[in-house]
Amino acid sequence: MSQQQWTTVDEYFSSLLVQDDEVLDAALRDSHAAGLPPINVSPNEGKLLCLLAQIQGARRILEIGTLGGYSTIWLGRALPADGRLVSLEAEPTNAEVARGNLARAGLAEHAEVRIGPARDSLARLIAEGVESFDVVFIDADKSNNPHYLEAALQLTRPGSLIIGDNVVRGGDVVDAGSSNPTVQGLRRFLELTGENPRLTATAVQTVGRKGYDGFSLARVVA
Ligand code: SAH
Ligand code: DHB
Ligand code: MG
Repeated sequence: MSQQQWTTVDEYFSSLLVQDDEVLDAALRDSHAAGLPPINVSPNEGKLLCLLAQIQGARRILEIGTLGGYSTIWLGRALPADGRLVSLEAEPTNAEVARGNLARAGLAEHAEVRIGPARDSLARLIAEGVESFDVVFIDADKSNNPHYLEAALQLTRPGSLIIGDNVVRGGDVVDAGSSNPTVQGLRRFLELTGENPRLTATAVQTVGRKGYDGFSLARVVA
């Protein structure tokens, strides 16, 4: 089994199930032109995020890690007319590209990109006492995932969904002795998820055009 095969199957699925979309294509073009790395979710992963948010009936979505706003657009499209999305991004350049992409997607009124280290932005959201979020998508620096989970738990309600991207990283996640902060962050995040009585969760491995990775899904139950 090879990367080429995974990519071909991803493209086959996308060609049948994920409609070609000028706005999303343009978002990737502008991201690339601005020098952003191509680490956005794939089209079929983006569609999965959109479907999960729709199934959830999400009115309020929180994203940690905006990049050029590609996943943000997929999530934003699940929102009803009065829905809100807040996306957190450390890099001002990325946020600027994302804002342009969100505006082109017709989401300028619904989606807000907050610039700064996500831990600070999360602390501010908690201090502001914002209304709880129905979906949280965690996809920034994975070493901070334990903190992001803690904050997400303070910003959600019973029934909310917390999605963690890239929890497999080519299988590195099982390397307990790893000196890689990403791996240690992911492992602690999964441990905290599993031992928290307020959460019920699973994680799924994936292959596709972005290689071998996966995501975690946790529902807040109390
Ligand atoms: N969700 C995007 C991809 C995000 S890539 C998509 O799928 O389209 C991860 C992003 O997290 C990068 O843009 C990076 O700048 C941002 N990031 C990294 N560390 C961060 C931090 N401490 N706070 C906020 N954003 C951070
Ligand atoms: C990386 C980050 C991501 O969020 C992702 O989906 C894939 C790769 C990275 O930092 O390499
Ligand atoms: Mg990711």
